[in-house]
Amino acid sequence: DSAPEARTPPMGWNSWNHFAEKVTDADVRAAADALVASGMRDAGYVYVNIDDSWEGDRDAGGNIQSNKKFPDMKALADYVHSKGLKIGIYSSPGPKTCAGYEGSYNHEEQDAKSYAGWGFDYLKYDQCSFGDTIRQEAGDDLVKASAMQRAAYEKMHQALQHTHHPVVYSFCQYGLYAVWRWGAESGANLWRTTGDIKDNWSQMSLIGFQQAGLEKFAGPGHWNDPDMLEVGNGHMSTIEYQTHMSLWAILAAPLLAGNDLSAMTEDTRSILLNKDVIAIDQDRLGRAGYRVWAEGPLEIWERQLENGHKAIALFNRGESPMSFPVDAATLGIKSGAEFTDVWQKKTTVLKNGSEPLVLNHGVTLLRSR
Ligand code: GLA
Repeated sequence: DSAPEARTPPMGWNSWNHFAEKVTDADVRAAADALVASGMRDAGYVYVNIDDSWEGDRDAGGNIQSNKKFPDMKALADYVHSKGLKIGIYSSPGPKTCAGYEGSYNHEEQDAKSYAGWGFDYLKYDQCSFGDTIRQEAGDDLVKASAMQRAAYEKMHQALQHTHHPVVYSFCQYGLYAVWRWGAESGANLWRTTGDIKDNWSQMSLIGFQQAGLEKFAGPGHWNDPDMLEVGNGHMSTIEYQTHMSLWAILAAPLLAGNDLSAMTEDTRSILLNKDVIAIDQDRLGRAGYRVWAEGPLEIWERQLENGHKAIALFNRGESPMSFPVDAATLGIKSGAEFTDVWQKKTTVLKNGSEPLVLNHGVTLLRSR
């Protein structure tokens, strides 16, 4: 896919994690305003993505309408664009979305045209009820089931291309045939690799660390998506949110904030706006990070960055502070090399025999100098 979209992992905001089905036009406008006021837009968070629950009925001609919460999609898109931002929308290849709203089944071309007419720049396409369609038609035939799943995603890709409006295309489905093996070929700029994230340590860390091994499938224009950020939603500690943000940056994951941007604490703002962490996530080399070492609750991940630079993350998944045994050979560095600790904002030297301490559920995220 030669489209320039998503050359680096998409950044922005999505309505689901905080607002879910309550989201309104006013919330989306407030999110756009907050992206500008907080400095997030200028740090790269440019997509304002409406998730499930905007959909109304179809009109007599079969055209999808927004519901009462969203009186005028074109006016909303114009507003978001006027702020120097882009806007995203959500649908399903099935007859119904995951929350039970109208999906795009048998209306793909028509829906893609509607989105383009309103001015949308991003589509999250969520399998949902299409899973039932697959089960009804394919039964136990998993080969047929996989083919149906893939064909449904490709059908919408075609429809989007026919509009000639550049769109970031986000697959949201899991199960059947591992999507990272076919997502890029089928037109995805990103594909979900897991079930839904939750705003708690166990689900976030399970999802994040289970990405190990998927790094080879990611690259410019096509990314693994371990789901949206929970930073600032209130049920993890500051340290846990730093770990969440660090891991997503190492993974070259999309950074889609999922909190209420108009009511952010200083801690939340400083995590989402840490320029060095964002720079790791958005590194132009476009190579996702990988796990280099694991021992009990300790994991070391690294990510190759452009110009020969490297990010190293020491993660402590355990329940008490632990020191890491540094072995320069394992890390592929010279003993005594200097790094910037991007959360502590200080210089750290890694040498054989040094034992940096990392707090429980915490991370030391380092960038070579
Ligand atoms: C699924 C997706 C979520 C969200 C909801 C909306 O659960 O995985 O990210 O889009 O549907 O209903």
